[in-house]
Amino acid sequence: MDGASVSVRGLGKRYGAVRAVKGLGIEVCSGEFLSLLGPSGSGKTTLLMMIAGFEMPTEGAIRIGDRDVTYVAPNRRNIGMVFQRYALFPHMTVADNVAFPLRMRKVVKAEIARRVADALALVQLQDFGKRLPSELSGGQQQRVAVARALVFEPPVLLMDEPLGALDKKLREQMQIEIKHLQRRLGVTVIYVTHDQEEALTMSDRIAVMRNGSLEQIGSPIALYDNPATPFVADFVGKTNFLEAVCHSCNGTGLEFGLGQSGFIHLKECPPTLPSPPRPGDKMRLAVRPEQIRILRPGDSDRPPLNGVVEAVIFVGSFRTFLVRLAGGELIHVQAGTDHGMAYPQEGERVGLTIPSQAVQVFPDRRQ
Ligand SMILES: Nc1ncnc2c1ncn2[C@@H]1O[C@H](COP(=O)(O)OP(=O)(O)O)[C@@H](O)[C@H]1O
Ligand SMILES: [Mg+2]
Repeated sequence: MDGASVSVRGLGKRYGAVRAVKGLGIEVCSGEFLSLLGPSGSGKTTLLMMIAGFEMPTEGAIRIGDRDVTYVAPNRRNIGMVFQRYALFPHMTVADNVAFPLRMRKVVKAEIARRVADALALVQLQDFGKRLPSELSGGQQQRVAVARALVFEPPVLLMDEPLGALDKKLREQMQIEIKHLQRRLGVTVIYVTHDQEEALTMSDRIAVMRNGSLEQIGSPIALYDNPATPFVADFVGKTNFLEAVCHSCNGTGLEFGLGQSGFIHLKECPPTLPSPPRPGDKMRLAVRPEQIRILRPGDSDRPPLNGVVEAVIFVGSFRTFLVRLAGGELIHVQAGTDHGMAYPQEGERVGLTIPSQAVQVFPDRRQ
């Protein structure tokens, strides 16, 4: 099985006055795992349904490989689909469910038996063919849905929140299984999720959607380290936002004031900003919780930020400290669990330092 590229250009969909998808352009490479990530209502399902052919676009074009499929019927697009709810036929055995797309395509009987066995083996359910869906666990049912979507060897597989109904542990296990399967088969996957951890775990690239538009597309690391907008910084991973005023910007770097809370110094102007900030400019800074270091009294003469530990949350592999700055901002700091270390306690005064390269700077446009 080989993947096919998928390209959407200027793609839009209106439902009456609602613009569910707005002039979207995305190029998915052959064999790529692309996630569509965004909050509920951002247009993910609508986009997927248009690619599958179940919704007609109001504008724009869709190509699969070198074929324009914008007006091609769904069953002629050669796309596999898996939905959040398993949508297995409850009265059919597992084997018959998986055989269904082959029967629709009038594949001969002996060939069907062979391909169904292969597809069930692929999802490690070779001994379950005779059962009914109701005799399987949720995870097993979802694997049957994956087998059914792959049995006709489509070059493109679309998945709409396929693990949404499963509990966390099973979901994480299935994420890895689906990812392995996709790698092995080389199939192109477009995967819808509103779960940023899932998108970070599975994807070659992530397309972040917001209000029917593409906010940013890139590798998980690129989105995490260099979010283009505060929305992406907030939606992918956890982040702290700080309102700041530029104090100075010169050869020795940039200094931002945070009112009573202190200051943040950057060694150089962030390359993502369209122009260097000028003194007096209001900016929005974003800092990941794991990038901040906590200093205890005596560690430094003049820590840039000072605050009081308001809460310490133990999460097993790490701790989250909620630190209230003098100006009132509540900062999340995450530190790995190191059993030799004495951690600050609730109520303790601490300093915070943030490495220069860990600070994302955005113009202070409310968004
Ligand atoms: N059949 C429909 N009729 C009217 N509005 C719809 C329909 N389907 C989706 N929408 C609207 O389009 C927007 C995008 O929905 P959807 O694609 O389902 O988002 P997501 O999958 O990201 O949650 C939402 O505002 C939703 O209410
Ligand atoms: Mg949806």
